[in-house]
Amino acid sequence: KHGVHVEKEEWSFQGFFGKFDQAQLHRGFQVYKEVCSACHSMNLLSYRNLQEIGFSEAQVKEIAASVTVMDGPNDAGEMFERPGKPSDHFHAPFPNEQAARASNNGALPPDFSLIARSRAGAGFGAYEGADYIHGVLVGYREPTAEEKAKMPEGMYFNEGFNGHHIAMPPPLSDGAVTYEDGTQATLDQMSRDVAVFLTWAGEPNYENRIRTGLKAMLFLVAFTLIAYAAKRKIWANIH
Ligand code: HEM
Repeated sequence: KHGVHVEKEEWSFQGFFGKFDQAQLHRGFQVYKEVCSACHSMNLLSYRNLQEIGFSEAQVKEIAASVTVMDGPNDAGEMFERPGKPSDHFHAPFPNEQAARASNNGALPPDFSLIARSRAGAGFGAYEGADYIHGVLVGYREPTAEEKAKMPEGMYFNEGFNGHHIAMPPPLSDGAVTYEDGTQATLDQMSRDVAVFLTWAGEPNYENRIRTGLKAMLFLVAFTLIAYAAKRKIWANIH
């Protein structure tokens, strides 16, 4: 699409032996939780899905309990607040689209559940959703005077965003989060980590599919060898 410029990156999950890096998924979740979740919902994920990337049951309970959920009505017909549970969907920052737009200069921060998948490939060039997300996060720069003159009020200039004018203020800068595993939280590192987390979120069965494919290949190779050995044996005495 016109004007978009993002770099093709190397990702651990790509290729035949591709695999998500669990530590990276945890860092990416931290970035989402501490920064992006202020504006972007992730409706299709539940807290318990985090067990699939190695968070313990106790950790998931704690993460879920850190948000306040509106529930009800109870027997008295009233709504009430309670701490989140592992079965709850990720807490949305705004109650509805109108409220989301009102807080974002009229623009809508898209839900992240499928963003990596929906922004990959067709129409956005031949790259992964992760390339796109990373590209937007590192794509901010000062516009030239000429570019600035064409920019509507309240917009930011971004190389990775279609049309270059984005309503999202730069969400990340060096040191925006503090990683527990000691990884340096540079803009590039956090952008990669959250891009990988969002890729996993959009494709929770990705690794399973690759593993199933590998097993099928191994089976076919073994089967071919056995069939060949059997054929040699059966036809051995016929000249
Ligand atoms: C749009 C990522 C944090 C508000 C986007 C887009 C991406 C993105 C990739 C482009 C979506 C598309 O293709 O449609 C992220 C990430 C964040 C983050 C990874 C955390 C690191 C935030 C925060 C805010 C915000 C904190 C609010 C202050 C928006 C808005 C848009 C947007 C309003 C729509 C922009 C437009 O249509 O012009 N975000 N975002 N984002 N984001 Fe964020």
